[in-house]
Amino acid sequence: MKEITHGEQQKIWEKEHEAPYVLRQMDSENPSGGVVKFYKWLYSKTATENVKGLEMCCGKGRSVIWLAKQKINMTGFDFSKNAIEEARRRAEAAGVQSKTNFLVQDATKKWKFDSDSFDFVVDCFATTDIESAEGRNFARDEAIRVLKPNGYLLVYTLSTDNEFHKEMIKTSPTSQSNAFLHPTTGKFEKTWDVTELEMFYSSLTLIESERVPKMSTFFGKEYKENNIWMVFQKATI
Ligand SMILES: C[S@@+](CC[C@H](N)C(=O)[O-])C[C@H]1O[C@@H](n2cnc3c(N)ncnc32)[C@H](O)[C@@H]1O
Repeated sequence: MKEITHGEQQKIWEKEHEAPYVLRQMDSENPSGGVVKFYKWLYSKTATENVKGLEMCCGKGRSVIWLAKQKINMTGFDFSKNAIEEARRRAEAAGVQSKTNFLVQDATKKWKFDSDSFDFVVDCFATTDIESAEGRNFARDEAIRVLKPNGYLLVYTLSTDNEFHKEMIKTSPTSQSNAFLHPTTGKFEKTWDVTELEMFYSSLTLIESERVPKMSTFFGKEYKENNIWMVFQKATI
């Protein structure tokens, strides 16, 4: 079975961000629906004006910029230089430069943030794109480390129920369960089921767990998706 190295995965993403081809939605300036849903949920609980949020693997910053427009102080990082340069340009064009901080950072290497420093962390199709179990575990532990006590982690991710991804797992599998290498780019992606996510984040408290059904287009064909939307909370010290 084919596998992919971290360096190969990063190269594929750098190319995709430079010239969007397979994942055109990642080039969009519209925020992720899952992040907008999280903001509404958060806003119903707390005033968001002095809140500090972080999006790991933020791509070109579509959701970071939107959250900054809602007056949240946002940081976003990605391992793609191309994506972060474009995110900074877009933040400036949107007039939210002072509310955003973008940096190049690999999620699988020690994060350059203090412990207990963010009110929330967003994982929007982020760990799903980390190609090794060790890398995903490391990124999860860092996300938890940088969250303040009582802080929230949003996980919006691919489900094992998604039609397109199911097809990919059958036709282009890897040795990891529920994962595949994209047939054209070779890029790794992992899908999740709810039980696996509950175990993965078992050191946090699960607060919300929902599904977000929608239609998505891949290679000109429409597929049903049933993505997973979960909110976890870090314990008080
Ligand atoms: C599916 S995209 C999601 C982007 C963004 N969260 C969004 O919703 O637009 C996955 C992102 O993860 C980034 N990525 C993948 N592995 C990474 C890693 N180890 N460290 C940092 N970024 C990574 C990719 O460059 C890409 O921008």
